[in-house]
Parts: sequence; C-alpha cells; structure tokens
Amino acid sequence: MCGIVGYVGRAQAAPILLDGLRRLEYRGYDSAGIAVVDGGRLETRKCAGRIAALTQLMRKQPVSGSLGVSHTRWATHGKVTDQNAHPHFDASGKLALVHNGVIENYQALKDELIRSGDTNFRSETDTEVLAHLIGKLYDESCASTVDIPEKKARLLAAVRAALRQVIGTYGITLVHADIPDFMIGARRGSPLVLGVGDGENFLASDVSAIVAYTRDAVYLNDFDVVAAGRDKFEITSLAGDSTEHPVSKVEFTAEDIGKGDYPHYMLKEIFEQPNTVRDAMRGRLDPDECTAKLGGLNMTPPELRDVGRIVLTGCGTALHAGRVGEYLIERLANFPTDVEYASEFRHRNTPMTPETLVFAISQSGETADTLGALRESRRKGFRTLGICNNVASTIARESDGGVYMHAGPEIGVAATKSFTSQLAILTLLGLLFGRMRNLSATDGSRVIGALEALPGQIEAVLELSDQIKEIAKKYVDANGMLFFGRQFNFPVALEGALKMKEITYLFAEGHPSAELKHGVIALVRPDLPSVFIAPDDSVFSKNLNNIEQVKARKGPVIAVTSGNGPKHLKGIANEIIVLPEAPEYVMPILAVVPLQLLAYHLAVELCRDVDKPRNLAKSVTVE
Ligand code: M6R
Repeated sequence: MCGIVGYVGRAQAAPILLDGLRRLEYRGYDSAGIAVVDGGRLETRKCAGRIAALTQLMRKQPVSGSLGVSHTRWATHGKVTDQNAHPHFDASGKLALVHNGVIENYQALKDELIRSGDTNFRSETDTEVLAHLIGKLYDESCASTVDIPEKKARLLAAVRAALRQVIGTYGITLVHADIPDFMIGARRGSPLVLGVGDGENFLASDVSAIVAYTRDAVYLNDFDVVAAGRDKFEITSLAGDSTEHPVSKVEFTAEDIGKGDYPHYMLKEIFEQPNTVRDAMRGRLDPDECTAKLGGLNMTPPELRDVGRIVLTGCGTALHAGRVGEYLIERLANFPTDVEYASEFRHRNTPMTPETLVFAISQSGETADTLGALRESRRKGFRTLGICNNVASTIARESDGGVYMHAGPEIGVAATKSFTSQLAILTLLGLLFGRMRNLSATDGSRVIGALEALPGQIEAVLELSDQIKEIAKKYVDANGMLFFGRQFNFPVALEGALKMKEITYLFAEGHPSAELKHGVIALVRPDLPSVFIAPDDSVFSKNLNNIEQVKARKGPVIAVTSGNGPKHLKGIANEIIVLPEAPEYVMPILAVVPLQLLAYHLAVELCRDVDKPRNLAKSVTVE
C-alpha cells in the first residue's frame, strides 16, 4: 500500500528513484511523485496516474540532483489528484516527505497547526499534516543561524518529536532543501528498509526497489528512525537512543524480479508453481519417520504434542489457504482447527483454550490486518507462528517461529504461487501433527508420496493452459461466474472467484456446491457460467447432482474433474478440464491452477491490466 524510494549518493537520483518506483508499482498505482534537492532548491514532479505518466512528465521537465524521495500511491486520505500525490511539503516548502500508512489523529494535529497560524495546506492528505508538523518543529528550533551538522541534528530531533505525537502507522522518508546529502526515514507499522551502498544509501518500502543497486539491507523495526548520508547511516529509537541492526544479504537478485519471457508476472508466477511447491517442501519431508520436519516452529516434541487446537488467520488468498488448512489438519491430525478473518480475529473476543496454537498466514508478511491479529494473539499469551514468503517481513520477525514459503518474490497483485505454497506447508503441518497422534506410518508415507508427486502433476495441469484459453475466449461475454466446490474444494471455489473478480472485474462468487439450492440457484442463467470443482472423490456424486440442477436451468457448466469424472460429465458439462488423480487432501493444489489460468486468460481477452488490477494493491499495510 504505497511505495517509497529515497536516495542519497553521488549519482543522479531521478533515474534510480523512477526505476525503484516501477518495481514498487504493485504496492499502489493511482498517482506518483518525486522531489529532488538541487543546489538548495527542491524540484518536484508529481501527478495522478501511473509511473508511466510521471516518467513522461519528467521527460518534459527533467530534474537534477543526488538526493531525493519518491512515492507511488494507493489513496487512503484524499481523492486521486495531482495535489494529493506525494511528496508533500511543510509550510516553508523546503521539506519534502513521502508516507505509507495512515495518520489517524491527523485532523487534531491539523487543527492545532491551524490554531498556531499555519493555514498553508495544499492537499487533503494526512501526510501533509505530518510534513507541516515536522517543518514547524524544525523551523522553531533553527530560529538562529546554525551550521549543517547542527541542522541535521535539529531536523532529526524535529522528526522524533513530531512522530511522538502521531497516532497511526507510518513508513516515511524525507529530505530538506537546506541540508545536502541527508535523508531521514522512520517506521511504525509500515515497512521500510535501508539499502547500504558504496558511497550511497537507499530507503525503500521493499528491497525489490533497490536490489539492482545493492543487496546489503537493514530492515528497520517499528519506532526506528534512520538518518542516512552518502557514506554513513545511524539508526536510533524514537527516544533518540542508538540501536544496533545487522546488515543482511538480500536472497534474490534483480533478475529474479523480472518477467522473463512471460507477458505478465501473474502468468510467470502460475508457471513457477511446480518449482515453488517443491521449494516449500524441500528438506521438510522425513520418509524414515513418515512425517514432516519443521524446525522453524521452534517447538519441542512435547510442546507440539500439547497443542490441542489450531487457529489459522489471514486475509484474501491467505485466508482461503487457511480454509483448506482447516480441512487438512482435521483430516490428517484430527483435532479442532478454526479459521478466522485476521481483521475480525483482532477485534473479537474469540474464546481460546490454553493449548491453542495460532498461525498468521501472509505472503507479504506486512498485511496490517494479519499483523494486528498476530499482535493481539501474542498479547493474549498464545504462541503465534507465521507462514510467510517474505523472510524479512514484520510478521516473520514478530512471530514466535514459523514456516517460510521460499516461493521467491510474488509481484502480480493476484496471489497465485503463494497460495499453493501455503497449501503445501499446511499439508506438512497436518502430517506433522497427525503423526504425533493417530496417523499411521503407512498413511504418513502415503501423504509424503502424494506431496512428492505434486510438482510433476502441476506441470501436467499447466499443459492445459491452451485448452483453458479457448474456454476463456468462449465465455468472454459472460456476465459473471459462479464457483462451486465441496469439502477440500469449497475454499478453492472461493479462491477461483476471488481471482476472477480481482483481475477480470466480473461479478464472481464461490459457494459450497450444496448451498446452490438454498438461494444461489436463483442467479443461474445462460450468460452466467458455473465452474464446478468436482474431482472424482468421495463427494463427486453430490457435485454431479448440483451440476444437473444448474444444467436444468440452462446454466453453462465448466467442470474441473479427475479420474472417472469425464465419463459421468460427458453430455452434461459444457467444458471438462481433467486433473491428474490425487488424494482429496492435496487436490486443492492441483484444482486451483486451472482457475488461476481461467481468470488470467479471460482477463487478457478483456484487455484488463492483469498485474495491476484497478483499486487494488499487492500489500495492504493499512487497516
Ligand atoms: O500478503 P498477504 O498474503 O497477507 O495478502 C493478503 C491479501 O491481501 C491477498 O491475498 C489478496 O487478497 C490478493 N490480492 C489475492 O489475490
């Protein structure tokens, strides 16, 4: 949710900032801006629209300088306009600030500033209030002439003093026209990373923005304030105490975050799934003991045996993975498992028993709702683990342990490979807990066999891409799509519908197949296809009944099936997509792939912006 890039060094800042913004565009893309300090003056370019619009503007009106900040926005406060685009300025116009997060008490702070005579507000944003507050505190402290080192110290003090008054979340970066070679960053609740270069330093919301320039990174914690020059940086707390942070090596390279030969990140990420599912299981299967090895849980065998209930929490696709996990853990380990929307869990007084183990599932590890749930769970004293892809994320760092997905950067706003990695990990958890309880060695060994077969089976499903593209073309005039599944595949129906609505903007809903007759059937009509995830499993005949009910009402049916399914569906379903045979508990990992492809191909047919769908952002770091 909003991307920040800052630069201080010897090179021209603008190309580096623009390049970083392009890599962060997945975080928000309704407006963008840049401010560069040039010989004691701030040069600013900003506009509503994508980074491409800003690039065009900067081609016409170039800026020069080796110190600057930039921002790509996902609007929270204030409409999408040039004026509301970041950077924002203090009353003097000399301080430029970019912000990711929400200043909840901005109105009270603004009223106070107005009372003190500052009425020079140019935007509707909460961010501008913070810029004014810092600027006011700085200007007051610099009433007399001071040298540059003293100006730096006073600006830093002003930032700390202002942030102590803020209620809300922020990742910020700012520069001041009077202070060369100096930028300040701070975070609370929104990510910020410092890239350490040779004679240059960077600040960014995500390392992907700066990995082309440096792979040495310092991940800031909440309440850290960093002051960076060309050759040095210092991190202190909001109170001004020095804090030590390790410099980590970024795991991936700039090439890893490219599209390769694919037209879209989403398609690339769908096709990466044989490898990413393999990577999620790598070194975690123990065929001798017929179980899983998950050392990152940081729990002893007795502690694991004492777990009596699991709560899985997350948002969007991660929540859907949790819903499959509920079926999985109950089937394999046979103990109570609940799934909660992270946003609800946090504010709800869910009765929890002492033996409850909580998992926060999040690709980015930065989703504000999921982070809030994690913090609430830990505050109440529950052991809370993460299932994250981003190893440097806040959720990964704040949890008591967990399991990394190792899926590599996921850039497409629609989550794909992270979902199947999450499912693979939840199967490993089911196996681990199952083997500590009633799951026999033979059954454990079967689960391992099913997991090991998955990468090859996903490859086989990906070969159906052309068939699915033809289906997408056939239904390009559809007025929406319904998705149905039962048991393990009910959450897959939810996920299929989410993918469809996110990137095609078509109306789409997912339901348990049997719910059809309790109301949804009223929607069935010839221009609204129903996708049934109906593999040849224990509930196939029930699904078949529901398919017949749709057909009887002239609703087109796209069936995703397996085994003997095609034999029964021939002449009933309009389209039949055949999956490899697999046990019910791993079928969602295969069944979701055609749904991802269907949404993708339909979105392309409809000329949608697949990787950056409207109104969305990849990482939702606001509540
Ligand atoms: O990074 P997270 O896994 O925490 O993200 C959670 C959701 O925001 C995310 O899954 C969202 O629903 C995706 N756009 C779905 O494709």
